[in-house]
Amino acid sequence: MSDVKQPVVLTGDRTTGPLHLGHYIGSLRARVKLQHEAQQFLLLADTQALTDNVGRHQKVTENVIEVALDYLAVGIDPARSTIFIQSQVPELAELMQYLLNLVSVARLERNPTIKAEIQLRGFERDIPAGFLTYPVSQAADITAFKATHVPVGDDQLPMIEQTNELVRRFNNTVERQVLVECEAVLSQVTRLPGLDGKAKMSKSLGNAIPLGASPDEITKAVNSMYTDPNHLRASDPGQVEGNVVFAFLDAFEPDVQKVDELKAHYRRGGLGDSVVKRVLNERLQALIEPIRTRRREFEGDRAEVLNIVRRGTMRAREVAGGTLSEVKGALGLTYFDQ
Ligand code: TRP
Repeated sequence: MSDVKQPVVLTGDRTTGPLHLGHYIGSLRARVKLQHEAQQFLLLADTQALTDNVGRHQKVTENVIEVALDYLAVGIDPARSTIFIQSQVPELAELMQYLLNLVSVARLERNPTIKAEIQLRGFERDIPAGFLTYPVSQAADITAFKATHVPVGDDQLPMIEQTNELVRRFNNTVERQVLVECEAVLSQVTRLPGLDGKAKMSKSLGNAIPLGASPDEITKAVNSMYTDPNHLRASDPGQVEGNVVFAFLDAFEPDVQKVDELKAHYRRGGLGDSVVKRVLNERLQALIEPIRTRRREFEGDRAEVLNIVRRGTMRAREVAGGTLSEVKGALGLTYFDQ
């Protein structure tokens, strides 16, 4: 990212619960770095969370500050990144309204992420319109800030594609380059498995390690990790593929050579699960300790957290408002301007 103009990054999380190590690997770690190279906007996506949490709005709103705490805990610096609340930036909803005219229902139904989520949630034909159109909401989030880069997991790639389709469609329609296309930034290890070996770590599946986990909780989590069910005795050869402990070592142990040696030893036989788990436990304890400490500090000063988010939201409204004026100008929605 060595553009002459500083890149603009927009990303965020649905506020359905505190974040966990899966988020750390998938996005948070990259965002802490990105804030030094780009102008970064971090979205607390409460509006989007409401699209599939009807009746659970309280859970959504209660977790807004929890996610903000997680951001601050991992080292997001409010002087470098703008943390803001989606629902408090009405310009985003307004921009979405104009973008909605530029996409067909059929196209929305073809979005692979939406398709998968509809299945997962069992909506069948009873799909809330707000849910079906959330990629357009996301496109509004991204384009309102003229984001050039969007860090995402690979499951979100169709969102970026759809955003860029909308950008081209809008610019073609008004015959002006108003909105800006963006590029996905994929992290290296995009997905951490759950403790149980399921493909994805998720709080609702109960297979996650929260960012504020206590030393005890970390040890318990590591000890409960799914390994190789056929590796009964330490002397047996073991399998590394699909083994959660090794997936975590790949993600969190920077000493690649050490991990390779452990893998080779495990495959040969003679290396017990408890030894590998001890190595991983030490690594995770060292990683989470400063995060947990910072989180506790901010938890003790919620007023300050709220202030950070309030200032971020004001700034986000300014930027989004600027883009919205251009959009409305390009559409001729300027009746009261001279
Ligand atoms: N879809 C993201 C999630 O599920 C949250 C999100 C909303 C987002 N708007 C976005 C991510 C724009 C990147 C860009 O957590």
